[in-house]
Amino acid sequence: MKLAVVILAAGQGKRMKSDLPKVLQPLAGRPLLGHVVSRARALNPSSIHVVYGHGGDAVREALVKEKLQWALQGEQLGTGHAVMQAMPNVADDELVLVLYGDVPLIDAGTLRQLIAAAGAKAMSLLTVMLDNPSGYGRIVRKSGAIQKIVEQKDATKAQLKIREGNSGIMAVPAKLLRKWLGKLGNRNAQGEYYLTDIIAMAVKDKVKVTPLIAPTVAEVLGVNDKAQLAELEAMHRAQRARELMVAGATLIDPLRIDIRGDISVGRDVFLDANVLLEGKVTLGDRVRVGPNVVLRDVTIGSDCVIHPNSVLEQSVLGAGCIIGPYARVRPGSKLGANVHIGNFVELKKTEIDDGSKANHLTYLGDAVIGKGVNVGAGTITCNYDGVNKSTTTIEDGAFIGSGNMLVAPVRIGKDATTGAGSTITKDAPDGQLTLTRAKQMTLDGWKRPVKKPK
Ligand code: UD1
Ligand code: CA
Repeated sequence: MKLAVVILAAGQGKRMKSDLPKVLQPLAGRPLLGHVVSRARALNPSSIHVVYGHGGDAVREALVKEKLQWALQGEQLGTGHAVMQAMPNVADDELVLVLYGDVPLIDAGTLRQLIAAAGAKAMSLLTVMLDNPSGYGRIVRKSGAIQKIVEQKDATKAQLKIREGNSGIMAVPAKLLRKWLGKLGNRNAQGEYYLTDIIAMAVKDKVKVTPLIAPTVAEVLGVNDKAQLAELEAMHRAQRARELMVAGATLIDPLRIDIRGDISVGRDVFLDANVLLEGKVTLGDRVRVGPNVVLRDVTIGSDCVIHPNSVLEQSVLGAGCIIGPYARVRPGSKLGANVHIGNFVELKKTEIDDGSKANHLTYLGDAVIGKGVNVGAGTITCNYDGVNKSTTTIEDGAFIGSGNMLVAPVRIGKDATTGAGSTITKDAPDGQLTLTRAKQMTLDGWKRPVKKPK
């Protein structure tokens, strides 16, 4: 059967006490709803429908890059009413999977099982066994078979004791769903059109309802306030850390790593405490990452060592590079093999070829640097005249003395040497020493100033 996913995301989320709509609150740096959409995508559905209401345009804008069908629920009259808003765009021969914009950790494997248990004439429902089921609709069974769901506010004392809760996630054939939704009433404690009432209708119509108990509680947890958001963040962090370890990485402490993107690791990668990985990060074999390092959208070749407190973004490193401590590699940098970037060195949009070194207190921006170059401490490429950016080119084998100002556009020739403290404004020729220093002199009879008497 073709699959149509319907994600409910119209609720306000008052308890977040935030101007940001609930489904846009970030988990691992990404809106809650974005997580749900990704997990839905993993099922290869023919369509994904988002029922939205509160935060309307902001919600649509945040997910503008996703291919989604939007259904507006102007007034939040209940979960059944919400699903109804998406139904005009769903065909009778499809299977509808209902998900929630504030339940971000749902597992694609669990959803596959749920879908497999449903069909043209059968529905399935994801339930959860809870120590404290307070707030959840309760699953009422008779000799094992599901009878109906009662909401907490409509439940009898005996029903409140049931520990099996409704996750709300279900797979229902569209034709039957449409029929049942049309018959929903709102005569209940909350005056809402409850999606959950379709269970009793299915039982009455003798449609098979398969309840599936969620393998983990985490995957069905919703987010209602900032405390729950932090709990899910921790669970997500643990899940992602586990995935990295399963992929072979050694984590000094899985509780002290943050993974907010798409990470791939080679063999024997080592990650120290408080590493933050964001975006698309690829780490080659035997890469070692020190404590407090931020890696965002980077590809790092095998055997690289990133020392503590370094920040690397949108850059590519060849094999065997040594970076930091306290290095900053900004977007657009490309390092060859065995490049050394030391402490308090900043790179921006700079290419550095094999074996070159800039080990101390240096800024290299918009530079193209050849092989085997040594950049002395305290050197700066003056790449910006206040309006335009210009390129500094340093050719193979050049040796830049300490404390140079390289005023771009400028070229330092092959095997050229520049003297310490030089301000280089014109191209320096191959193989020669260029320096711009004033001659050192000593003034005869010079005295230090003395304090004037008052
Ligand atoms: C719902 C279920 C309950 C289940 C619980 C799990 C119903 C009637 N009850 O209760 O059995 O145990 O979820 O968390 O379905 N929403 C809309 N439009 C609406 C109403 C809700 O989009 O008109 C969305 C909300 O944004 C939210 C979700 O649906 O993401 C659930 O709504 P909520 O009001 O929180 O339902 P509960 O009362 O928690
Ligand atoms: Ca809820």
